[in-house]
This record gives sequence, structure tokens and C-alpha cells, in this order.
Amino acid sequence: MKGVELLVSISHRNNSIIWIIKSIKRLISLVFFSKLLTKLIFNVDVYPHTYHNCQNWDFTTLLLKKALNKIVKNNQKILEVGTGHLAILSTYIAKKRDVTTIAVDINPEFIENAIKNTEKNGVFINLIQSDLFSNVDGLFDIVVFNPPYVPTRWILRNNRELYTNSIYDLVWNGGSDGCDTIKHFLKEVSNVTHKDSIIILGVNTLFVDTSKMKKLIQDAKLSLFSMVSSIGNPSKVYVIKKKSACI
Ligand SMILES: C[S@@+](CC[C@H](N)C(=O)[O-])C[C@H]1O[C@@H](n2cnc3c(N)ncnc32)[C@H](O)[C@@H]1O
Repeated sequence: MKGVELLVSISHRNNSIIWIIKSIKRLISLVFFSKLLTKLIFNVDVYPHTYHNCQNWDFTTLLLKKALNKIVKNNQKILEVGTGHLAILSTYIAKKRDVTTIAVDINPEFIENAIKNTEKNGVFINLIQSDLFSNVDGLFDIVVFNPPYVPTRWILRNNRELYTNSIYDLVWNGGSDGCDTIKHFLKEVSNVTHKDSIIILGVNTLFVDTSKMKKLIQDAKLSLFSMVSSIGNPSKVYVIKKKSACI
């Protein structure tokens, strides 16, 4: 009987510890990704609602901002893929540079919300619902993407409440190895780029490591031109060009 009581008390204690850790994580993400911080870091006002389980931005967004600052020049034509419910990166760069921007997302509700958010921020971005490049015409100087890269099983094991089996999972769900959308993107991006275009792809190395990314870029017959990183940020930004541009 003593043994059973001991097991029950250990399991109660473990449940309490898990509950405390989850609460701390929730609190950190509430503070860290709050509207105020979004305004301070990205100069983007967050007007319409934030979606359930959907952060305003992540570590990769932060690093992509740094890469856009370095790379984007005035008068360029930019395509942002997977712009999200705030079109945060497109809005950020549209406020800083004189650029023409098209931003797409697979989720029509995100596009609806992003249109309202960009209007409130006083920028014009052509926002279109599109599965990668399916509804996109023309060629772009810059293509930027913060794709879903978390392996499905990782979420099922560590953060099951995020799994909704719906289009909302595409915020994070990169398929069995986290690379499904990245592979499609790298395969098709040549259709919307010219020989001097720059492709800026951000991925968290905790989910897809750098050697895997280098292989995917090579398999897609593209060239890795440079990488952008920041101390303490687990993400990496891969700056990619077409092969002909690097010869
Ligand atoms: C990690 S979130 C990035 C959101 C925002 N751009 C950022 O940097 O914080 C990934 C976004 O890509 C979108 N997405 C996923 N698969 C897509 C696809 N095949 N075509 C277009 N957008 C896609 C998701 O709906 C989601 O908004």
C-alpha cells in the first residue's frame, strides 16, 4: 500500500511541476510576443485580434528582420511567402524602404486580418491568398519566407494543444521531418525569380539543422550565398541565389 501511495504522490508532484512549467512558458510568450514588444521591435501596430495559439512573431521572424535590413534596397520588388495574420515582415520593410511588396499566405483568414492590419499601419501591400506561388505572377528581386518547419511528431509529443488538424497547423507543421514546405518552396521558387534575385529563407536549427538545409538547397539546384545569425537566436537565415548568379 505504501508503494502505491508513493507512486500517486510522485505522479501528483510531476503533474504540478508540468503545470508550473507550462504556465511559465505561457507567461513568457504572452509578455515576449506582446503588442508592445511588437511595436518596439518591428514598429508594427497590432490592431485586429491575435489567433488562438498563434504568436505575433518568433525567433526566425526576428532574424529575418535583420536580414531584410541588410539586403533590401529601395525600388525593389518583394514577395513575402507565408506572411501570417499580421504581415509583420512586409509591413516592417514597407515602412523602412520604398519597395513594392506582394505578400501571400495559404490561410484566407490570415490574409483578411493582414489586410486590416496593413491598412491600420498606413502601408500598402498587395495581399493574396496563395499556396506558395500558385496565385503569384511575375518575377521578384527578393523572395522571403519564414516557413513551417516543426516536425509533426515533435508537436504531438511536446505541445499537443497546438495540434488542431486544420489549416492553422501550417503556422508550424512542416510534416514528418519538418521539411515538406521548405522542399516545395525551394523547388518552385525559380519560377518567380530572375538571375539576380535573392531568396531569404529563415529556419530554426533546433528543428532542421544547417547541414540538412545545405543539402536541400543543393538538391534544389540553388546556391547558398551567405547566412545570417545572431548570438542567442537558434534560427538561421539562408541567403540563396540561383546557380547562374554565383558563377
Ligand atoms: C511560421 S509562420 C510565419 C508568419 C510570419 N511571416 C512571421 O515571420 O512571423 C508560417 C506562415 O506560413 C503560412 N504557410 C504555410 N504553408 C504555406 C504555403 N504552402 N503557402 C503559403 N503560406 C503558407 C502559414 O499560414 C503561416 O502564416
